[in-house]
Amino acid sequence: MNDATPLVVANLKANKTWDEMSDWLDQISPFAEKFSGTVVVCPTSAFIAAAHQKLQTENSKLKLGSQDISKFEHGAYTGELAASQIADICQYAIIGHSERKKFFGETPDDVLAKLKLALDAKVKPILCLANIEELDYYLSKSPFLQEASSQICFVYEPPSAISAQGEYKPDDPEVAAKIAGSIKSKISPEAVVIYGGSINSNNAAGFFSKESIKGGLVGQASLDPSHFVRILESISR
Ligand code: PGA
Repeated sequence: MNDATPLVVANLKANKTWDEMSDWLDQISPFAEKFSGTVVVCPTSAFIAAAHQKLQTENSKLKLGSQDISKFEHGAYTGELAASQIADICQYAIIGHSERKKFFGETPDDVLAKLKLALDAKVKPILCLANIEELDYYLSKSPFLQEASSQICFVYEPPSAISAQGEYKPDDPEVAAKIAGSIKSKISPEAVVIYGGSINSNNAAGFFSKESIKGGLVGQASLDPSHFVRILESISR
């Protein structure tokens, strides 16, 4: 990971029209500029190109990520977004999010295929891990994961903690920090591990103050720019 930590990722999921998204970028860009770490925004795939254009024109420090990529390299795969197609405009891609597994049947082997394609395309994977067992499986099947670990942002995100735009139900920061530490010990002491699941402005500092947690993947609380700014500010303190 070459970008500064803390790394905070806004996963906007299937939310916002382009006008709302454009307004969100206008409000967050000034904070990304003065933030000590890195802020990544992951819009719906339809708006990636327009967001890239806007961020470039305005010389914004915000980084751009995709919420997913295809498990196929390229070709006749209707509706898919190949890693190579976003490589010029996205620095990051979320891979293995539990909603892809829950609603779209993504398997652990699909995740590994996507991971490899992202790395080949030089798009940094934000790899979601529901638990340590999942990491063990990935490591046992794919030695390249360990070798490429400096290019990957690992996210400990227990599916039970995801708010899904409902009630916030975060993991205990102590437990999350312990699991983030276990991920590091299996990968490398330098591995960047962040936490995801119901982060909001009231609990963010509790997670980000932990030594093993280098940032967060934020869903619901990223949608309102003023709330997201409060999360960034709580880390800067
Ligand atoms: P949440 O979502 O912050 O709404 O829990 C996080 C995520 O799904 O990445």
